[in-house]
Amino acid sequence: MRILALESSCDESAAAVLDGARGLLAHELYSQVELHRAYGGVVPELASRDHVRRLLPLVQRVLAAAHTTPAQLQGVAYTAGPGLIGALLSGAALGRSLAYAWGLPAIAVHHLEGHLLAPLLEPQPPPFPHVALLVSGGHTLLIHVRGIGRYEVLGESRDDAAGEAFDKTAKLLGLPYPGGPQLAELAASGRPGAWRFPRPMLDRPGLEFSFSGLKTAVRLVVQGRQLDEAGRADVARGVEDAIVDTLIAKALRALEQTDCHDLVVSGGVSANRSLRERLRAAAASAGARVYYPRIEFSTDNAAMIAVAGLKRLEAGQHDTLQITARAQWPLAALAPPTAAATE
Ligand code: KG4
Ligand code: ZN
Repeated sequence: MRILALESSCDESAAAVLDGARGLLAHELYSQVELHRAYGGVVPELASRDHVRRLLPLVQRVLAAAHTTPAQLQGVAYTAGPGLIGALLSGAALGRSLAYAWGLPAIAVHHLEGHLLAPLLEPQPPPFPHVALLVSGGHTLLIHVRGIGRYEVLGESRDDAAGEAFDKTAKLLGLPYPGGPQLAELAASGRPGAWRFPRPMLDRPGLEFSFSGLKTAVRLVVQGRQLDEAGRADVARGVEDAIVDTLIAKALRALEQTDCHDLVVSGGVSANRSLRERLRAAAASAGARVYYPRIEFSTDNAAMIAVAGLKRLEAGQHDTLQITARAQWPLAALAPPTAAATE
């Protein structure tokens, strides 16, 4: 089965063509970062309008790159949530309509299921069951993944997500949006231990996270101080180490609790090199193995939406003619792929 997939949940417009037998044939992405930079964050209405402009040309480009005509497709997948409702609707309306026009089944994909299944695109995919640490701009979750659509949330953030913590502290350090990758770059030249920020909830049992205290701690350091570049790098290093230490400790705890030896790390923050390197080492000494998507599929993309959509379409699952988009959509609401019409 060969499908077209669309992603438009936030500030990235993306399209991909995935073939069940031949793998990923093509993927294209347009980032709106420049559009939102002047505002210091994503402006939802501007995001929706830009998706409307970008998506169809991306579809044409990706089909050409995959040497695929609509007649060679067997399905269309699109991100239906969670995310910005207008942004989601742009992709959902286009995906559902193209499927209707081409006489194909369509499937509404959960964005986080896409992140969870992104490592299946790699040469050595993770086995089931495994534990997944999903760290994005909007979510920090530890999940026991027993199979596709069988997700038990073991713990999550009570307040800010890990990506949000990176972005908000980056803003306090005067870094441009999106702050996460910029803070990580600055941290690389910072001195470890120059600043020690709180690692909340590490001293307590359980798998919950809390990152909102971090931005207050950083604000107290930054306010009233003239920090030069080296000083800012030290603060950035302190922030990155606090977040990475917390994520590693809880992920190892989740492996122990579930008696799993395989850990998937996905979502935008999984692009962080310090997290990747340190987690790989920590897991190895605990006798576990870590699986990541390739860096470009850590952050939002359509290839991961194609993987999740293909698994469901191949099982015979598809949607009714309704255009589906949900700003909120709990992961626990998902079920394994079924040979039936849903939505
Ligand atoms: O998964 P994603 O692309 O979008 C959401 O679904 O939220 O994640 C975006 C988040 C942002 O908070 C961004 O700052 C963070 O991932 N991020 C990083 C890095 N690359 C992206 N955070 C730390 N280090 C990075 N290298
Ligand atoms: Zn995402």
